[in-house]
Amino acid sequence: MDKLSPGDDSLSLYVLRSLPQHYFEVVVDAGCGAGRQTMVLAGDLRTPIQAIDSYQPFLNRLDRRAKENGLAHLVRVHCMDMKDIPSVFPIIDLLWAEGAAYNIGFANALDTWAKAIKPDGFAVVSELCWLREEIPDVVNEFFRSSYPDMQSARQNIAIAEQVGYKIFNTYTIPREAWIKDYYDVLESRAKSLANHADVAVRDFARETLKEIEIFKISQDSYGYVFFVLQRSS
Ligand SMILES: C[S@@+](CC[C@H](N)C(=O)[O-])C[C@H]1O[C@@H](n2cnc3c(N)ncnc32)[C@H](O)[C@@H]1O
Repeated sequence: MDKLSPGDDSLSLYVLRSLPQHYFEVVVDAGCGAGRQTMVLAGDLRTPIQAIDSYQPFLNRLDRRAKENGLAHLVRVHCMDMKDIPSVFPIIDLLWAEGAAYNIGFANALDTWAKAIKPDGFAVVSELCWLREEIPDVVNEFFRSSYPDMQSARQNIAIAEQVGYKIFNTYTIPREAWIKDYYDVLESRAKSLANHADVAVRDFARETLKEIEIFKISQDSYGYVFFVLQRSS
């Protein structure tokens, strides 16, 4: 899949263009995956993007994609852990992370990256959040085991402020961006693997189908939120 988390090129572009500046010297895309948003960043900023992921096959696909789109000169891939970003890129003007910060914990990620983001530089990080007080019981139960650290958008704003950022803006990803090219692809693939002979494949497929079912009955009680943050000076 080209898209490895809920999102959409037009939304990435919208958020990027909402920033008060359009020139950034050092841009890092943390947990870039197959590079959907990397291509948006490179295409619009026309500056080198340091694309970081710990899974080389995704980076190979991104390399291929960048070549096919004439952006190879702007996409630099690095197979590394996102927790090590400050030691490799000690001065960052824009750090972008879509659907990836949770891998090292949202609060820990923001805190770790703050060390490398220039004063007044930007971090744009999307994170799964509770959006409402009333949460259907089954939804609550599902996330209690699959993402127990999930916080409300308000709590995540407080976390960002505590670790040294000002809130510039937030954007909630629309429902459609979860479905198009993401759940609509995943659902049919997971269905075809739900009775696979390999128990690990079978379990993963069934867990994916459960996640999609939960999304359908979620009543918008949770969602992906872009936190547009400016490093305090
Ligand atoms: C849900 S995917 C999102 C990918 C991409 N940003 C997108 O939205 O399509 C999360 C990505 O984080 C990567 N990842 C997980 N843990 C990581 C780590 N500790 N350091 C770097 N990348 C990591 C995974 O390989 C995966 O590509």
